[in-house]
Amino acid sequence: MERHAPAIRTLGILGAGRLGTVLARLAADAGLRVLVATSRDATLIARPMAAIGAEAAAPASVIAESDAIVLALPLGRYRELPADALAGRLVIDAMNYWWGADGARPDLDDPRTSTSELVQQHLARSRVVKGLGHMGYQDLEDEAHPAGSPDRKAIAIAGDAAEDLAVVAALVDALGFDPVIAGLLASGIMLEPGAEAFGADVDADELRAMLDRFPTSQRGIVVARARGGHLFETTADNDS
Ligand SMILES: NC(=O)c1ccc[n+]([C@@H]2O[C@H](COP(=O)([O-])OP(=O)(O)OC[C@H]3O[C@@H](n4cnc5c(N)ncnc54)[C@H](OP(=O)(O)O)[C@@H]3O)[C@@H](O)[C@H]2O)c1
Repeated sequence: MERHAPAIRTLGILGAGRLGTVLARLAADAGLRVLVATSRDATLIARPMAAIGAEAAAPASVIAESDAIVLALPLGRYRELPADALAGRLVIDAMNYWWGADGARPDLDDPRTSTSELVQQHLARSRVVKGLGHMGYQDLEDEAHPAGSPDRKAIAIAGDAAEDLAVVAALVDALGFDPVIAGLLASGIMLEPGAEAFGADVDADELRAMLDRFPTSQRGIVVARARGGHLFETTADNDS
């Protein structure tokens, strides 16, 4: 695949835990300016962020100064996200419902709605793309490879706007993975816990095959039943 410079020059990340830290390092290694915030004072993470080439900042600065903002905080806290500050911004939702972190939250496990659609409802004036959340942080750390590498792995993304998907696909590529477009934001449910692609550390062909199998999988059948017998529309193109 021919490489294009990613349109994202400054990447913001909300959350500096396992996922946020790995993404920050990969993005810094790719030459991006990386700004990271948590819900606490930025000085608390200043040193570990500096060590990986990123900058700690307050959430407001991260949001204001970044071309795209990755959500890498516990999904159960998504309603804390500042919808006004994030209005008009490209937001990459890497969050998943995880019982151990989020507790019992049936609202986050409703097969009628993907969790990224809930995030989009909260961030009604943002452009949400689901991405960077189906691969475990250790695989992300270990598996980043330059474009064209034979053992390159893939990361799927889902979103409603083709131009936003293109921007996020370029980011995925810059971070060291082949982007695969799963479909519209609703189809991001194919990347959530319970779906075969969740946790997948596979190449683009295998990841596409997993997405293709979703409708006949146990989770796919549950989702289709909950949605009145049909799944969701996908985009015409299945890859980038
Ligand atoms: N771990 C993985 O392998 C992995 C892979 C893919 C996706 N994910 C998803 O990524 C998200 C984070 O997972 P994780 O394993 O990295 O969790 P984690 O290690 O517990 O880190 C969570 C981070 O979010 C911050 N945070 C909490 N509330 C926040 C808020 N309102 N604004 C900004 N930052 C906030 C926390 O810092 P403070 O508490 O100090 O604010 C902490 O730095 C989850 O939704 C998870 O499902 C995880």
